[in-house]
Amino acid sequence: MTTPGEQAHRARVAAGDETGTGSAAPEFHMFLERLFDLTGVDLSGYSRRALHRRLRSLIKGEGMSGLPELNERMREDPRFLASLVDRVMLRVTTMFRDPVFFRTFRQRVVPLLRTYPYPRLWVAGCSTGQEAYSLAILLREEGLYDRCRIYATDINEAVLEQARSGLLPLASLDEYEENYRAAGGIRQLADYYTRGETWAVLDPAVMDRIAVFRHDLARDASFNEFHVIFCRNVMMYFDEPLRYRVHELFRESLVRFGYLGLGQSETLHLSRHEAHYELLSLRQRLYRKVC
Ligand SMILES: C[S@@+](CC[C@H](N)C(=O)[O-])C[C@H]1O[C@@H](n2cnc3c(N)ncnc32)[C@H](O)[C@@H]1O
Repeated sequence: MTTPGEQAHRARVAAGDETGTGSAAPEFHMFLERLFDLTGVDLSGYSRRALHRRLRSLIKGEGMSGLPELNERMREDPRFLASLVDRVMLRVTTMFRDPVFFRTFRQRVVPLLRTYPYPRLWVAGCSTGQEAYSLAILLREEGLYDRCRIYATDINEAVLEQARSGLLPLASLDEYEENYRAAGGIRQLADYYTRGETWAVLDPAVMDRIAVFRHDLARDASFNEFHVIFCRNVMMYFDEPLRYRVHELFRESLVRFGYLGLGQSETLHLSRHEAHYELLSLRQRLYRKVC
């Protein structure tokens, strides 16, 4: 039997109030404001639940007493601050993630991309680069890469640094090879990298037409007109107004009949943007802008 006092305590812990990470806690608002002031990263439109989870585990891992201490540390410790965005954001990615998505893209989108003289493709929320590398390899195999340009962007400078390096973790290569085959790859993935002692390095020819730079989907404007935009496994952490903003940005950035690839956890179904797209593949969340 739990007492009402214990129940209230459990509710406070679940809501994050014991560590000061509850949404209503002034410390949480101070955290958001301070992070924005000191780094320019605005997390106010991110899912509170996911953010609290990450903050609680960060606080625990650092042996801190709660959010007030973390807020102080942000001000006093520049190294801690520099690592904070990377530790709060999720960066999981793989080569040819959801292989059927890439197979569908190869079959349904590439034939139409051929009709453009100079296709521009934007991988928004690219993490450490694997999604952009996969796209580059696919386009090379289709004989299109030389006239394409891939823009790979992310909010987190730490992942961008790795994306620019073309380094692949050795421990992931078997999984990458398997994904590559399932995605309809026509050679071996190993043909595109050189194995080193601690990392594998991508062939520079694969990196050749990829531009990697910082772009914040929550605050920055469009920077070009694109024939394809991928934004997979990024928006699931955004609240509704932020999602709306990002879809406005994409609609404005896509050429008419341009393609939008969303991840498995995203859909335009029942959204205010649904009417602007036709569905190419429901399962793969692949859309074509019609107006
Ligand atoms: C889970 S990873 C997904 C990577 C890749 N798209 C994939 O599907 O494998 C999510 C990425 O979105 C990035 N991200 C989160 N918020 C962002 C924002 N406001 N602007 C740009 N990128 C953002 C994160 O830094 C992270 O690298």
